[in-house]
Amino acid sequence: MEKILDIKDLKTYFYIDDKVVHAVDGVSFSINMGEIVSIIGESGSGKSVTAYSIMGIIPKPYGKIKSGMILFKGEDLLQKSEKELTKIRGNKISIVYQEPMNSLNPRLKIGYQLMECLMIHKKMKRKEARKNAIEMLKIVNIPDPEKRYNSYPYELSGGMIQKVMIAMALICKPDLLILDEATTALDVTTQAEILSLVEELKQKYNMSILLITHDLGIVNQIADRVIVMYGGKVLESLPINEITKEVLHPYTIGLMKCIPKIEEKKDVLYSIKGYIPDLNSRFELCPFHERCEKKVEICDNYMPKLVEIKKDHLVRCLLYSEEVEKNYGNASN
Ligand SMILES: Nc1ncnc2c1ncn2[C@@H]1O[C@H](COP(=O)(O)OP(=O)(O)O)[C@@H](O)[C@H]1O
Ligand code: SF4
Ligand SMILES: [Mg+2]
Repeated sequence: MEKILDIKDLKTYFYIDDKVVHAVDGVSFSINMGEIVSIIGESGSGKSVTAYSIMGIIPKPYGKIKSGMILFKGEDLLQKSEKELTKIRGNKISIVYQEPMNSLNPRLKIGYQLMECLMIHKKMKRKEARKNAIEMLKIVNIPDPEKRYNSYPYELSGGMIQKVMIAMALICKPDLLILDEATTALDVTTQAEILSLVEELKQKYNMSILLITHDLGIVNQIADRVIVMYGGKVLESLPINEITKEVLHPYTIGLMKCIPKIEEKKDVLYSIKGYIPDLNSRFELCPFHERCEKKVEICDNYMPKLVEIKKDHLVRCLLYSEEVEKNYGNASN
């Protein structure tokens, strides 16, 4: 299958005072054409920094992509000039953030903001851009789109604003859409509506989607593949049909346990013990070492590598490494 995005050994660090935050530290993954890949992980795992690295919007100079490659349709985005990236952002690759209000200009009508995108990237004339903008508002289920075209952002509800943001992200028909916790702030009904819309649009335009969320319910609903991030690293990568039955990494197993099950009426929900690690120093051992309830002796000595355990299923855990098999027999028992 053709890859739309192929990230190789990405390292994005922040240099603050005398500290280095290793926000993304050796991340590799790819997205196939027309695929929905989800990144999950607790807050502070490096999910957004991965997305911002793809978009080329890491704040400079204190944020820096130290090394790696971000191949988009085979071309390394990290080698592109700012001018070239401007042509790609919002056109070939779009992003929708969690806080949509901050992404719109409060002084401009939403119609104009949608239209601008088409006039800049697609060189459309005003009239044609207006027609397309209203059409796009219709596609994302905004009621009375002609009227809404002339609204200012403050006149719209949160759910409607997020739909406008999705319309804006889609209007140039990007090849890759990044949703960074895009529905987190919305009520359940609007969230469901937006997700089914995204799925529908993916089919319609054969778009590829990077869906960043900490909500495993959403992942189950629409993702094809899941990448689990923790401490700036990928700990597991697996196809969606294995998420309920074949999860291997102790961290992913913990995340799965945190999802409330309707049939279990527990007063206290399960949560993974401990806190996410400090990213100010590089890990010598497994990033999940401090919190892991399944660690074995060699976890105190080695850093696990991300290895393919079976087709399309990668895990970074010594329980599944050859060393463990050698020393402890079949460790997955
Ligand atoms: N602009 C920034 N300046 C300094 N540190 C940052 C910045 N953005 C993110 N970080 C740090 O990078 C790490 C990963 O953050 P982030 O990618 O936002 O996590 P997530 O999206 O998974 O919640 C965190 O430790 C965070 O504090
Ligand atoms: S490598 Fe060891 S500490 Fe890390 S997740 Fe696996 S068992 Fe736990
Ligand atoms: Mg984030």
